[in-house]
This record gives sequence, C-alpha cells and structure tokens, in this order.
Amino acid sequence: MITKSAISAFESIQTPFYYYDIELLNKTLDEYTSLIKKYNYHAHYALKANADSRILSIIQKAGLGADCVSGNEVALAIKSGFSPDKVVYAGVGKSDKEIKTALKAGIFSFNCESVPEIKIINDFAASMGKTARISLRVNPDIDAHTHKYISTGRKEDKFGISPWMFESVAELFKSCKNIELVGLHFHVGSQITDLGVFKLLCEKVAELQQWFTDRDFFIPNLNLGGGLGVDYQNPNENPIANFKDYFEIINKNLVVKPGQNVHFEPGRAIVAQCGHLISRVLYVKIGQRKKFAILDAGMNDLIRPALYQAHHAIENLTSQKRKMRYDIVGPVCESSDKFGTNIMLPQTQRGDLIAIHTAGAYGQVMGMKYNQRDLAKAYYSDEICQG
Ligand code: LLP
Repeated sequence: MITKSAISAFESIQTPFYYYDIELLNKTLDEYTSLIKKYNYHAHYALKANADSRILSIIQKAGLGADCVSGNEVALAIKSGFSPDKVVYAGVGKSDKEIKTALKAGIFSFNCESVPEIKIINDFAASMGKTARISLRVNPDIDAHTHKYISTGRKEDKFGISPWMFESVAELFKSCKNIELVGLHFHVGSQITDLGVFKLLCEKVAELQQWFTDRDFFIPNLNLGGGLGVDYQNPNENPIANFKDYFEIINKNLVVKPGQNVHFEPGRAIVAQCGHLISRVLYVKIGQRKKFAILDAGMNDLIRPALYQAHHAIENLTSQKRKMRYDIVGPVCESSDKFGTNIMLPQTQRGDLIAIHTAGAYGQVMGMKYNQRDLAKAYYSDEICQG
C-alpha cells in the first residue's frame, strides 16, 4: 500500500523510478527469519531478485546469507557484508574467472550442475592449494506448474545433474582430492503457488539422497532453493508471502537426518511486494479500438510483462474519477512494451502518477538501456516520506 505521504513526495521526483517500502521489507524479513529460527533452517537470499545496495544491506543485517549466480554476484555479496561462509554459488556455466573469484573468497558451497564443471573446480582448487565445498544441484524432474521460462526442475530443463549421472559423480568425489561433497541442492522453479510442488520435492529429496546413503556418503546439507510465489493479483491484501504454510509443508515432509542442515534460497518472496515502479502518463491516445495510456516507464524498466506475460497490478495514484478501460503501454519501440491490456483505471490523463506493483523482484535488476533509455533510480520510503 502506497501512503498519501509517499504520493506527495513522488510529485518532486523524476519518473520513472523504483520505490521501495522499507517498512514492508522489514516486516517480511521479520516473519521469514522468525520461521527460519523456529525450524532451525538456514537462508541465503537470491541476489538475482534484487541487488540494490540498500536492499542488500537490510537483508544482510537481518541475518540471511547470499545465493549467487555469477562471480560478480559473489563479489557484490561479500562487498555488501555477507559472510563468505554463508554464500552459495549456482549456475550452469561458471567461467574460469568466476570459479577463481569464488575459490579465493572461500564461499560455503559451489552448487554444481555438471560433471565437467566439478572436474574443473577440482583442478582450479588444486592449483590454488584449496579444497572446494560442493553441493550437487540435482534435477529431480518435477513440474513446478509455473511459467515455462521460470521452470527449472523438469528433465528437459538445462539445470542440475541427472540422477543417472550419480555414478560418475561419486567416482569423481572418490578420486579428486580438492573437492568435498557437502550437500544436495534443488531449485525447481520460481513463482510457485501450488504448495503441493514443495511436498513432491521433499519426497524426491528423500529418494535421491538414499542413493548416496546406500553408498556410504553422508550429505551434511540439503538445499531446497527458492521458488515460493507471491500474490501479483492482490498485493495490498497479501503483502507477505505464505511463509507459514510453506515451511509447515517442508517441515512435515522433508526427512532430515541427524547432523543435517536444511537451507533455502528465497528471492522473490522477500522483495517482490516492497517494490513499485512509479511512472507518469505521457499521453492518453484514442486508438481505433482502444484507449492507450502511454507511460514514461517501459519494458526496459520492468521486462516481466513482455518476457513472461506476467501480470502486475496497476494503480492510478492521482485520479479518482469514473473507471474506464485502458491498455497500459510504454514508450519503447516494441509492441510487447505493454504492462496491461483492458485494465480498468479511473479516468486517466497526462501527468497522472501510475504505480505498477509487486515490482521489487526481477524488476530494477533486469532493467536495461534499450532505446538508450536511462535506468530507473531507486527511492526508499524511510528517506522520502515524512511522519
Ligand atoms: N535459487 C536458484 C538456484 C535460482 O535459480 C533462483 C531463481 C532462486 C534461488 C530464487 O528463486 P525465487 O525465490 O526468486 O523464485 N526473472 C524471473 C525469475 C527467474 C528466477 C531464476 N532463478 C521472473 O521475473 O519471474
């Protein structure tokens, strides 16, 4: 919910920009970390969702570790204060330079996705006189019932090691001296709203770790990744994700052996609802069949609708007139530069402030300069609002 005092502060800020509700971020983190403590789990925030420096600093201070997918993310996490022993690093294509960065930093675990990658990490670790801690990212062949572009755990997806490769993986850990198997890692997709998917994942984890137990490997860490969805339709009614039911399902269904630690990598569920993209209406254009509200924010600022046909709630913060239908579009030279079709908004005119909600995750961080547009800046509720 954007307050009146925030809206009046927006008047003097150049649009488009990202607005972060710091109070909501803190509330979300409080709820998340209290459950993490209750169940004695460990959490690593997925930097890819939002790597804004202020946001990172708040999440780091709340005690989460970091989940990274590039050498630059590893370096940024450490620079932002995340302790290297709470940093995990995944990705199907880690470059030599990135592997060396992470080895030098002494991160908690490389989440590895293929046999050749494990070999290379062993070689680099040997040449640096180090031992790399490795978790195997396993492809459990689970359909996360989400958009196909953000589904990662089906056997046709590029992510993770297939169970039929376990034999070769086990051989590697027996023969290579500079790697240590410290865990199994899973991440089956993002924006998962069917919690049954996580129950299925727990069952798969038990089945897959049995393979290692049968061969006398002890797996000290189980990492279930991220993926919990948020409510894009009704952000005001459900500003905090359903962490309670999520952890209850995991706690009930995940078999945890004595001495094992359980880890998570939340991204979207931590930051999505606290972020809003704020823009102004440039023109209202009467088309042949439709009315278009043309914003000064475009797909370069928030690409999710264009890329995944994602729904984001849209609000006119200025007008309270009678509602009408609009297609809400941006200024970029692409027909897919559209935030919504046939959206009911109070009668809208040039200069009205428009908020696109639930934009804190995979919003600003996926921003780009296409059409040589400026990157949107970030503003924070506790800095711009009085009282
Ligand atoms: N762990 C791994 C290994 C991941 O690949 C991801 C996200 C996460 C954790 C965090 O997942 P989350 O809790 O945020 O669902 N750009 C897309 C989402 C891509 C997600 C990529 N991986 C979007 O805007 O929907």
